[in-house]
Amino acid sequence: MLFADVVHSMEIAASLGAERLREIMTELLDCSTAVVQRYGGTVDKFTGDGIMALFGAPTALEDHAFRACLAAMHIQSEAERLAADVQRRDGIRLQLRVGLNSGQVIAGEIGSAAARYTAVGEQVGMAQRMESVAPPGGVMLSESTARLVDMAVVLGDPEMVQIKGSDVPVAARRLLAIGENQPRRRGESALIGRTWELNTIAGILDEAIGGAGCVVNIRGPAGIGKSRLVREAVAIAAGRGVPVFNTYCESHTHDIPFHVLARLLRAAMEINNLDPGVARARVRDRFPDADPGDLLLLEDLLAIRDAAVAVPDIAADARRRRLTALVNVASLEQRDPAVYVIEDVHWIDEVSESMLAQFLSVIPQTPALVLTTYRPEYRGELAQVSDAQTMALRPLNEAQASALATELLGDDPSISRVAERVAERAAGNPFFAEEMVRDLAERGVLQGDSGAYLLSGDVEDASVPATLQATIGARVDRLEPAAKRTLNAAAVIGLRFDSELLGGLVDDAEVTPLIEAQLVDPVRFTPIAEYAFRHPMIRTVAYESQLKSDRAQLHRRLAAAIESGAAAEENAALIAEHLEAAGDLHEALPGTCAPAPGRPSATSPPRSRVGAGRSRSPTDSHTTIRIEYRCASNPAACCAPARFG
Ligand SMILES: Nc1ncnc2c1ncn2[C@@H]1O[C@H](COP(=O)(O)OP(=O)(O)O)[C@@H](O)[C@H]1O
Ligand SMILES: [Mg+2]
Repeated sequence: MLFADVVHSMEIAASLGAERLREIMTELLDCSTAVVQRYGGTVDKFTGDGIMALFGAPTALEDHAFRACLAAMHIQSEAERLAADVQRRDGIRLQLRVGLNSGQVIAGEIGSAAARYTAVGEQVGMAQRMESVAPPGGVMLSESTARLVDMAVVLGDPEMVQIKGSDVPVAARRLLAIGENQPRRRGESALIGRTWELNTIAGILDEAIGGAGCVVNIRGPAGIGKSRLVREAVAIAAGRGVPVFNTYCESHTHDIPFHVLARLLRAAMEINNLDPGVARARVRDRFPDADPGDLLLLEDLLAIRDAAVAVPDIAADARRRRLTALVNVASLEQRDPAVYVIEDVHWIDEVSESMLAQFLSVIPQTPALVLTTYRPEYRGELAQVSDAQTMALRPLNEAQASALATELLGDDPSISRVAERVAERAAGNPFFAEEMVRDLAERGVLQGDSGAYLLSGDVEDASVPATLQATIGARVDRLEPAAKRTLNAAAVIGLRFDSELLGGLVDDAEVTPLIEAQLVDPVRFTPIAEYAFRHPMIRTVAYESQLKSDRAQLHRRLAAAIESGAAAEENAALIAEHLEAAGDLHEALPGTCAPAPGRPSATSPPRSRVGAGRSRSPTDSHTTIRIEYRCASNPAACCAPARFG
């Protein structure tokens, strides 16, 4: 719930006169209403000199609170814009206060209207009180809102404020900014150790900003803290005003040529979510002197090609060479520092791998820092790039492990034995420690708040599972059926999934319990909600723990959903992957092998191998045999490999 009000409205009214005031208020309310609507809220009423708006999304828990925060910040910036005009014309300082509160306002659809009114009244009261204690031009959140959004936004320190109707002061926090680069997520502890690594990366970043770029490979087993180190480094870069472009590899796209490369380039050119025509214009702006034929190749790779224009018909090798030259020349001309992140390279597709290795060779002559992460078993080309720095992350040492256990559990004497056990079992793997603590809390062995638990019952009941997988498995098993179905479907979709695809796979998708259990996190709210598994290992466990027949059914439905979507053609290879996982690839061949306009079909490498593939698919373990299918209609077209294993 959002409450916005003009500061000192009575005085402004007195000095401006009723007519001019009405004019200003109308403009202010109009643009505030537009902002509220843009973030999916509804204006409940106008209060004379302000508005009250409701954000109640049926989707994720944090969703509505976060949208309200976005709206609040935008309303303030609209008000500032208007205030500059008012200052000039009327010599008056126009400022707004905004307050937010979250609560169950329409919980009781059952029950009498009067009861519902009371519920609404209480929550509105708190939003209004927050507004009244907000500084002019500021946004104040009640504790309930702050709790929902604290990992997605930047908040001031908790303040105890005196409000009307309460004898004791209540907690409130100022909303300072929408934080896109917060290193810490819900339920994570402060960073323990890794001082040397982070300082080194910060030093390398400074050199990159100065023009001498570098590739830093961060290597280590699952859960050791690679992504966390990247997030910490990204926060430093963001603090220095350096833009960051991210991409990630995942197990099931390991066989899709160009997948990761295209995704990284799309991110770097900021063309995600753009209409293809607009995206083409932006790419052309970026490469003003490029050969038009090369540009067509690039557009084809980025899946933004105009279907009416043919791609030059040249051999795959020549295409790759031209693309590499195009991108390398552009990198060398780049004057502004940037950070590029490629996560989980052990799952990269081979074409992206070899082309990226060539892109990375010019990085030392550019103002760029490239961070890659991979597991120790990866020995591919990107681990061999010359002049790259490689950091092997070691397990936390004993002192660090126990500091982490204390961070996660708190330091109440009742839990000291549990903390020891967690530290010992985790063997320096922070993710294992976190998952054990979540498991203990879910089992009720720990009571209280995260980071300040008390032991409930006997210490002997506080046993911990033997492995990270078992810990995650126990947590997944504990989910209610609808939530479990949702998690299973999500695991089939991928590391990231949106509510639309999810809705196509499960009728009663329930993401909120998964967010509460810290198995997934919301990553985007508009235009459709998008979520990500908190860690690839959670996805693997959720994927593997399903019945094969159920999983096949989900893959089949997913293939159909993607096929009926707007981007079916550019996703031909992905569709084939899902059909294959469903055991239906043979039926799929005629359709999925058709040449796909707008896809890097003709740029795909010749794939005539028969042999053992690398570890792949979320099962992450079995040996695979890949057989090349040649497509009758277009031998150069990208056909999905068949896999048996
Ligand atoms: N040094 C650390 N201090 C505190 N928490 C950590 C540290 N390293 C990792 N973590 C936490 O452990 C979890 C797993 O880390 P992550 O970076 O995702 O592992 P990886 O990418 O190596 O698989 C995350 O929740 C992360 O915040
Ligand atoms: Mg990671």
